Amino acid sequence: MDAIVAVYSDWGIGARGTQPVVLHADRAHFREKTRGAAVIVGRRTMEDFPGGRPLKGRNNIVVTRQEIAIEGAEVAHSTEEAVELAAKYEKCFVIGGASVFRQFFPYLDRVEITKIDLAPPSDSFFPDLDADPDWICAEEGEWQEENGIRYCFCTYERKKEA
Ligand SMILES: NC(=O)c1ccc[n+]([C@@H]2O[C@H](COP(=O)([O-])OP(=O)(O)OC[C@H]3O[C@@H](n4cnc5c(N)ncnc54)[C@H](OP(=O)(O)O)[C@@H]3O)[C@@H](O)[C@H]2O)c1
Repeated sequence: MDAIVAVYSDWGIGARGTQPVVLHADRAHFREKTRGAAVIVGRRTMEDFPGGRPLKGRNNIVVTRQEIAIEGAEVAHSTEEAVELAAKYEKCFVIGGASVFRQFFPYLDRVEITKIDLAPPSDSFFPDLDADPDWICAEEGEWQEENGIRYCFCTYERKKEA
């Protein structure tokens, strides 16, 4: 399973339920990568989407412990249930937030990371894959700039067991 995430230079991913700095280029990259795929998303992150609704053009699997129905999404009440629901789709991305990334981490073998060269205060973090010997940066794009903020798109892969 894949994940896609934008990280600041301290691997922070957000504060107080939202992303303090968002780049248009990252949003476009996210839309392109996830179009037509399934996405696994935490209920809190979904509430930060436009209108607090699931994303259009993707098969949304929202994880929540609540007994609720969400229009435009399948609801999963555990990681296992989400993984089962995702199995019928060809491609699935875990798209956050922090608690969801943490719990699905063992299922991940590839992560699309937008590195943003800035460190606004975060209260949510993604695991530092540069410090994890099980992961390798398989592809690092060129550093680019948007409104004076440097960013680059990277692909990390879990090392295969020898
Ligand atoms: N930088 C990025 O790319 C990126 C991407 C996404 C999110 N974020 C950031 O991440 C932060 C939000 O992360 P978060 O950890 O607070 O919230 P979250 O992971 O989006 O959602 C947490 C909610 O998901 C549900 N949940 C989690 N684990 C579950 C499980 N095992 N079974 C059933 N339900 C489960 C619960 O919902 P209920 O309370 O309804 O039970 C829980 O309250 C925000 O700051 C957001 O901006 C950043």
